[in-house]
Amino acid sequence: MDEKKVLLSGIQPSGDLTLGSYLGAIKNWAELADQFDCYYFMADMHTITVRQNPADLRRHTLEQLAQYIACGLDPEKNTLFIQSHVHQHAELGWVLQCYTMFGELSRMTQFKDKSAKNADNINGGLFAYPSLMAADILLYQPDFVPVGQDQKQHVELTRDVANRFNSIYGNVFKVPEPYIPKVGARVMSLASPTSKMSKSDTDPNGCVYLKDDNDTIMRKFRRAVTDCDAEVRFDRENKPGVSNLMEIYSACTGKSFEEIQKDFDGKGYGDFKTAVGEAVISAIGPIRDEAQRILKDKAYLEGVYHAGAEKAAYIANKTLRKVYKKIGFVQR
Ligand code: TYM
Repeated sequence: MDEKKVLLSGIQPSGDLTLGSYLGAIKNWAELADQFDCYYFMADMHTITVRQNPADLRRHTLEQLAQYIACGLDPEKNTLFIQSHVHQHAELGWVLQCYTMFGELSRMTQFKDKSAKNADNINGGLFAYPSLMAADILLYQPDFVPVGQDQKQHVELTRDVANRFNSIYGNVFKVPEPYIPKVGARVMSLASPTSKMSKSDTDPNGCVYLKDDNDTIMRKFRRAVTDCDAEVRFDRENKPGVSNLMEIYSACTGKSFEEIQKDFDGKGYGDFKTAVGEAVISAIGPIRDEAQRILKDKAYLEGVYHAGAEKAAYIANKTLRKVYKKIGFVQR
């Protein structure tokens, strides 16, 4: 029998998970377990590149694990783990920093955005973050890395670093492909639809959280910024608010933009916004309730992250040993 292809992705527990991370990432992961050998982790080491309250970081990490499971990631079929539990990430991260160029890191959009937002804390970790992300990925030799559009640049840098390393030492790393969904790859803020919906959004109305109750979700959609011509039509450039709502609706219901346009022809934005709110509530309401139930079972969650770390460390260690040998470290 052919070996399954490998797939890996992670999310930072830097805040409550959003509809953006759900539609751009997790929603698409649940269906892949039968086809691929899947690794998903809480990227807590990445999270501290921006100052965190320790209690919040711990809470967000466990909530995120409960949400992964509630979204359909069965721990029996997927390897779910916490990044800091697998020390090989930090070790390979250091090695790969030495194979990533200053110029490459300087060009990363996320670094530019985050250093503008955190001008008082532009630390070395924030700058070197993509080398750690390359290590996260390359340790598991994955074929695909499912991410939203904003992470494509980091996956491309990972490919460059892997190719550079392989060209010096032979075929050490598999060079993975980004795997980006057709709809939902870039969910925008409901309050300012030209910027990305983000966990760290300062305007809570722009961002729908997986934890939000149904009334809050509906209120946020009813208030969503649109435009004044009252026509439900996809045009990212001139109608960013309506186009974003159409994309969310399409990702939640499976309907095409043409179908949506037809369904809401002649109806106002009010009806459309309510329909989007209802579609989102049916998509994420059950996840919220299930995550709350799972979160109460601390022993179960502990069992999941222990088993996940053990399996992940076994694979990660194989790659790290190979790397250490290739670069000339004396074996212990
Ligand atoms: P993070 O935590 O910012 O986001 C997690 C995932 O959600 C996607 N995403 C979105 N997709 C569509 N619309 C949005 N508004 C939206 N917001 C977030 C992101 O593209 C991502 O797929 N560096 C990564 C975490 C990471 C990682 C890795 C990912 C660390 N190591 C290794 C893959 C492989 C990050 O900050 O994602």
